Amino acid sequence: MADALKYAINERARFKSELFDFLRIPSVSAKSEHDADTRRAANWLAENLLRSGLKVEVLETPKHPVVLGEWRGAGKDAPTVLIYGHYDVQPAEPLDEWSSPPFEPEVRDGKVFARGSADDKGQIFMHVKALESALADDGTLPVNIVFLAEGEEEIGSPSLVPFVEKHKQRLAADVVVISDSAMFDEGLPSLLFSLRGLAYFELRARTAKTDLHSGAYGGAVPNPATALAQIIASFHNKDGRITIDGFYDDVVAWDEKTRAQIRSLPFDEEDFRKGVGATALNGEKGWSVLERLWIRPTCEVNGFLAGYTGEGAKTVLPAKAMAKVSFRLVPDQRPEKVRKLLEAHLKKVTPPGVEVELLEHHGGLPWKTEVGGKYLEAASVALEEAFGTKPVLQGEGGSIPIVVEFERILHAPALMVGFALPGANMHAPDEWFPMENFEKGIGALLRLYNELGKR
Ligand code: BES
Ligand code: ZN
Repeated sequence: MADALKYAINERARFKSELFDFLRIPSVSAKSEHDADTRRAANWLAENLLRSGLKVEVLETPKHPVVLGEWRGAGKDAPTVLIYGHYDVQPAEPLDEWSSPPFEPEVRDGKVFARGSADDKGQIFMHVKALESALADDGTLPVNIVFLAEGEEEIGSPSLVPFVEKHKQRLAADVVVISDSAMFDEGLPSLLFSLRGLAYFELRARTAKTDLHSGAYGGAVPNPATALAQIIASFHNKDGRITIDGFYDDVVAWDEKTRAQIRSLPFDEEDFRKGVGATALNGEKGWSVLERLWIRPTCEVNGFLAGYTGEGAKTVLPAKAMAKVSFRLVPDQRPEKVRKLLEAHLKKVTPPGVEVELLEHHGGLPWKTEVGGKYLEAASVALEEAFGTKPVLQGEGGSIPIVVEFERILHAPALMVGFALPGANMHAPDEWFPMENFEKGIGALLRLYNELGKR
């Protein structure tokens, strides 16, 4: 392992330049105009992985291909580690809010700015380079490796569940390692004990058969924008609780140990408030900010469109309005159930004369792990050696829907070890990743594979 660590240090300039090549490919999975780029990213990654010493295939799915790498040199008795990540990225818009172009990586202040630098290309590439470092110069690893990178994570992984089902023999593993999240703070690594799930909907409200003059008709004909605003407002009460009947029924009570763990973390709500630039925070009464983010479900409006939004003023009574509304879920809530409850709620609150259609986008189950166990311990040792500090356990408000499916289909527990930092601007302009974590993280992953090999 000492050789591998030395190799990684010696090769750091090349690693960085390869990372930049990877980040230059606009693999935006949501946009069909980028389908060729997304495929190019898959091929680029496969090629790089092949040079790292793995056997590699690019496997087709109905949409974007899966990159599958394998190294089974540790033998049948050694554990197998499945490394999962995604090479697709979110759209970069709004482009004019980036300080440098999203697909022209640039280092400022020790951070590489580019779409995908944190989520997730930068992080999967750390695994690729850790594997290369271990396997270079006839090197070896104490674990077998299956490396799986998908190109559809940012669109809800539609092809991946059938893919994992189909290839479950080949993907069989003892543990799944995922680096697609953040450390708790600068210099303070972390391991996740939970992820929230997601249920994502689109509400389409209609009233009249066409837009109308707001003077000639307004006051007598229902306004779909007003109606939709009322419907949206009905989702919460004054205490920030969701008012949909039955919504909290399946929320498990978190054990006191987890809540105590959350309270023990070095977190200042006032600093957090300043960090996001808001004058006040809000949320469900009776819970701390970290609890609201990690262990409580939420309802957010992600988009709202109605009426005239162009230059100047137009007196119009719109005929339709649309909102994108998503719910973050916690164990044991399920997206299908939330849909049913939402349907019933809409029936109750939709004003007369307004028709609301409910469409469903992708969703995913929440994930929660038993704290403790040999894999968390292995990761803890590896992170402490690499960062000089023991990692903390934290929850996460974001979602990675495939995690639960891996556990269900492969019966392999997930180990969530991320290296981005809070405020990394995932999905936002000026996404960044610290170069220091890129380098230290490669060392941490090398140590992690090693520690896993011992257990
Ligand atoms: N890497 C994120 C998940 C994440 C976000 C982890 C923030 C830690 C902090 C992942 O790529 C993601 O964005 N997931 C989506 C899931 C959705 C598209 C099904 C999310 O959380 O919105
Ligand atoms: Zn993401």
